[in-house]
Order: sequence, then structure tokens, then C-alpha cells
Amino acid sequence: MDVALDVVEGQPGSSNVRLVNAEYKVNKSLLLPPERRSADIRLVARHTDVYEPCDDSYALVDALLADRANLCELHPSICLEVGCGSGYVITSLALMLSDLKDTRFIATDISKSAVETTRLTLEAHNVNADVLVADLVSGIDTHLAGAVDLLVFNPPYVPTPDDEVGIGGIASAWAGGHKGRIVIDCMLEIVDSILSPKGWFYLVTVAANCPGEICQIMRRKGFASRIAIQRSTEEESLHVLKFWRDASNEASDSSNPVSPSGRTSFMQRSLPHHLSRLVSFKPT
Ligand SMILES: C[S@@+](CC[C@H](N)C(=O)[O-])C[C@H]1O[C@@H](n2cnc3c(N)ncnc32)[C@H](O)[C@@H]1O
Repeated sequence: MDVALDVVEGQPGSSNVRLVNAEYKVNKSLLLPPERRSADIRLVARHTDVYEPCDDSYALVDALLADRANLCELHPSICLEVGCGSGYVITSLALMLSDLKDTRFIATDISKSAVETTRLTLEAHNVNADVLVADLVSGIDTHLAGAVDLLVFNPPYVPTPDDEVGIGGIASAWAGGHKGRIVIDCMLEIVDSILSPKGWFYLVTVAANCPGEICQIMRRKGFASRIAIQRSTEEESLHVLKFWRDASNEASDSSNPVSPSGRTSFMQRSLPHHLSRLVSFKPT
């Protein structure tokens, strides 16, 4: 097996973990404090072809953590992560919603190595999810139709030549084609069909993806949006966008989007415009 856990015997906090020929025994109840709400980076499995948790992964988990009380209230029946990579996000989600009964966690990735790595990460944290190799949700789309209450996606968003998209290996983790949008746009096409009436969708984007334009596309499909988290580094400006069905169900009417909690804010009313201004801002 070519998957290795990022854990060695004797590491702080992991003295009850032992690696033996890539197999491991974990006294999980001792390893993780009961209040743990996100995956322990030391227990995240690694593989040379699999994306390691990075700023974008942390931003997505932080956005979910910030919304945790609302997520508990939403009480999702099915939570789906597309493009699970190392398993850091789906494991964190399963941990932060572990108080909920009857919530099922599903994760997909186009990479077999990512699926294997995610399974190891979940197991190391003593949480469960069904993890499948799939191009987005192909093969399970009919099963998931209208049933996903929580959908999360940290996509390959880096602008590249189109022919680099889907070539396999670690490039699948970042190669996004024109404007970094090829895989994102495929995802936008299917959100409406798999999300439940009360469903929420969290999407990681960078400025090059034109997040304001993404919000406009989703608005035309009947979704309201807000920025769950915005982070800027020297290299990129990250946004975690949150989408939900606009309660007024007036897809083309931008005048009065309503939040899941029933509140309407200036930010929600003007998000696409606000985003287009944000992403064109360049610090000097
Ligand atoms: C930026 S990485 C994110 C990994 C992980 N979710 C995280 O946040 O650390 C993007 C992931 O999407 C996967 N991916 C790319 N194209 C995909 C597709 N068409 N269907 C499913 N997964 C895909 C990649 O293999 C990679 O694991």
C-alpha cells in the first residue's frame, strides 16, 4: 500500500498511535478529545498524488465551523463533499456534526488515491463516510437527486490551459482551465439537481474565477449567496461562497434575496457587485 499516515509513534498527542507496515492501531477514544470539531492535521493521511490540506482547505473548514450552530439547526440528512482529497474537510465535517443523529456523510473524488487517503483519514479520526471514486457525482447522481442538504467543494481552481484539466495525478487537484472555471462550471450545472429544497452549498473560489460571475450564474438558477469567508494572501484572494435556494424563488429578480435565517442584508442584496469590486481590488 502506498499511502502513509502522517503520524509517528511518540509524536505529541499521538503516543497511542503505532505504524506497522502502513497499518496502524489507534486507541481512538484516547486520541481525540470529545470536543474536537475539526480533523487533527497530524492524523491526516498523505499520498504524493493527493492534495495536502492548505489555506483553501482551512478556509472551507473555518467557514463550516463558523456556521456550525446553523448547520446543527439545519440537521442535514446527507452531507456530500466533492473532491475530498486527503479527507481533511469531510472528516472535519463529520466531527463538527457528530452530535447529529441519522446524518450520512458521502465524499467523492476523481482520484483513486484520494479516495484511499480519505478513508484512512476518516478511520484515524473514528468517523464514517461513504467514499467513492466519481467524476463529481457521476454514478450516484440519481441516488442523490434532491437529497443533499449540505454540499461542499474545494475545486481545482487554478487557471491553466484547458487541456491540463483532468489529466490525472496531482494536477487534478489544481488545474482548472480557462479562468480556473472548467470543473467549477460543471459543478454549477448539477447543484440544482442534487441539492434538497433546504440545501446549502459551500464553494471555494479565488479572484481569477470571477466569483461575482459565479454568484450571478447561481442567482439565475434561483440561488441566493453570501461570502462565508474571505482571505487574502500575497498569492491569491480566497472566497468561500455559500449558496442556498432563494426563498422568494424568483431566480431573475435580484431585488430581495432572503437568507436561510430570514434576514436580508446589504451584502446579500449586492453580493455579485460587491464581489466584482473586491476581486478587482489590488493592494499596493
Ligand atoms: C483543491 S483539491 C481539494 C482537496 C480537499 N477537499 C481539500 O480541501 O483539501 C481538489 C480535489 O478535487 C478533486 N477533483 C478534481 N476534479 C474532480 C472531479 N471532476 N470530480 C471529483 N473530484 C475532482 C481532486 O482530485 C482533488 O482531490
